[in-house]
Amino acid sequence: MSSFARLLIAVSMALSILAKRHHHELASNPTDGTSSAGYNTSRVGPANANCNRQTYQLNITSNNFVFQNVDSNANETILAAMFQDFLPAPANYSAMHENGMQQVSNTYSLSGTLCTPKNSAKNSDYVQYLIHGVGFDSSYWDFSVNNADDYSYVSAAAAAGYTTFRFDRLGTGLSEKPTDAYNVVQAPTDLAIATAFGEMLRNGSIGGQKFNKIVGVGHSYGSVQVQALTATSPSLLDAALLQGFSNNATGQGYFLAGGAYSTATEVFPQRYSSGELPNAYLVTLANQTQQLNFWYYPYYSEAAFQRNRETEQPVSQGVLFTQTGLIKNATDFTGPVHVVTGAQDVPFCFRDCYAVPAGSPYSSIPEYAKDLYPKAKNFSVYIPANTGHAVNTHYSAPAAYQEMLQFVAQAFS
Ligand SMILES: *[C@@H]1O[C@H](CO)[C@@H](O)[C@H](O)[C@H]1NC(C)=O
Ligand SMILES: *[C@@H]1O[C@H](CO)[C@@H](O)[C@H](O)[C@H]1NC(C)=O
Ligand SMILES: *[C@@H]1O[C@H](CO)[C@@H](O)[C@H](O)[C@H]1NC(C)=O
Ligand SMILES: *[C@@H]1O[C@H](CO)[C@@H](O)[C@H](O)[C@H]1NC(C)=O
Ligand SMILES: *[C@@H]1O[C@H](CO)[C@@H](O)[C@H](O)[C@H]1NC(C)=O
Ligand SMILES: *[C@@H]1O[C@H](CO)[C@@H](O)[C@H](O)[C@H]1NC(C)=O
Ligand SMILES: *[C@@H]1O[C@H](CO)[C@@H](O)[C@H](O)[C@H]1NC(C)=O
Ligand SMILES: *[C@@H]1O[C@H](CO)[C@@H](O)[C@H](O)[C@H]1NC(C)=O
Ligand SMILES: *[C@@H]1O[C@H](CO)[C@@H](O)[C@H](O)[C@H]1NC(C)=O
Repeated sequence: MSSFARLLIAVSMALSILAKRHHHELASNPTDGTSSAGYNTSRVGPANANCNRQTYQLNITSNNFVFQNVDSNANETILAAMFQDFLPAPANYSAMHENGMQQVSNTYSLSGTLCTPKNSAKNSDYVQYLIHGVGFDSSYWDFSVNNADDYSYVSAAAAAGYTTFRFDRLGTGLSEKPTDAYNVVQAPTDLAIATAFGEMLRNGSIGGQKFNKIVGVGHSYGSVQVQALTATSPSLLDAALLQGFSNNATGQGYFLAGGAYSTATEVFPQRYSSGELPNAYLVTLANQTQQLNFWYYPYYSEAAFQRNRETEQPVSQGVLFTQTGLIKNATDFTGPVHVVTGAQDVPFCFRDCYAVPAGSPYSSIPEYAKDLYPKAKNFSVYIPANTGHAVNTHYSAPAAYQEMLQFVAQAFS
């Protein structure tokens, strides 16, 4: 072997060791902001709040869909074929891949963070309960680019004197990622977890404090859960703030197809290993498909996009196929309801929130959610301009937070 060839081999070995070390650091270094947790785990919250992150063990029983002819470790060919079954005809998909319901009981390990304002808490026994959506973890609510606080809703809330509680949904962030991506990680399980955390906020199991007023705040699939809570447990929440939400399903198929959802371990091998995540945990395939679903160009910074992509979280195929089924008529909910949806939201407005049918009694698509709230004390809608589905990551976020907090102030008054 020539010395040049030996040199090449030595260089390529060194590079591969460097690459491995780099991957290892990406997966485990808590301060570089790109751990598989999806957030900078050294950051527990913004500078203006005292935050406590904790792992909770929740015993959950839920009435789940029974999937059939599925395999959480099926390859991408099979997963894509399932999208083809589902997209044109969800009912046909159900006939092929679902077979009744079953009770599923498990203890789940879930990470939650309580943040209280450092100065001038308005009411220490009031809390905003924050539930994030698909593709994110709880850091959606403390979205931070270069460790700054200006996109952090937790920070805006603390500045206004409010306590917040957020948690990583099952299968995201620091929470457990169960290996069954169909029968376990699906919408009824998530709703049962959301219900349990709400009850725990009421009964003193979180922060040693019995919160007596709770405003539920969701984003996207998190809003679907908050909406479902107002229907299934109408006295659990005092008010509901549904961000990135409507009850118009037109954009949902586009969301599922446009994201080109693909096996997380193949798209982000540096962050997710097949030992940790089965194949049916998915992420959007490429930067552009993430952009299609969540962003409205050019009304955000490249750094915000980069931060989101570097920390994108997986979603189980079970959740993707069951999520919108949770939305229900909240006939007994009497609190106020506020919907905040970006004017160019794709999944819930099909990129135009003002595209109502001719002769509509409403001026925007999100206003139709009023039909789900016959007894609500008040129903209102805010549509930030130049904003896509991920409201908290666009330039409009700080102004949107002030508007949201006005609603929260009224709800707590
Ligand atoms: C991670 O969080 C720590 C603690 O807040 C902070 O000092 C550090 O700058 C953060 N890293 C990044 C990349 O934001
Ligand atoms: C959850 O269930 C386990 C096993 O049944 C039990 O030991 C534990 O005390 C329960 N935990 C809670 C918080 O109820
Ligand atoms: C995926 O799995 C199916 C069923 O086992 C198999 O027929 C197919 O060849 C596999 N595709 C690839 C690309 O491995
Ligand atoms: C769905 O199933 C119905 C009844 O079996 C069938 O007529 C229809 O062609 C199917 N649609 C699709 C898109 O597969
Ligand atoms: C609080 O609520 C949770 C969830 O429903 C329940 O498991 C727990 O036993 C309750 N704790 C108390 C002290 O009531
Ligand atoms: C995708 O976005 C990430 C984060 O912004 C960036 O590092 C990467 O180069 C982009 N990939 C491509 C193919 O553009
Ligand atoms: C639902 O959304 C579609 C797509 O934007 C729109 O054409 C339709 O008018 C909307 N329907 C209602 C009732 O808002
Ligand atoms: C919700 O229930 C109320 C009262 O029963 C009814 O008037 C309303 O039409 C229902 N809305 C929807 C969307 O089903
Ligand atoms: C209803 O909500 C709107 C918008 O938040 C607010 O301006 C109005 O004061 C509220 N009305 C009541 C009766 O709370």
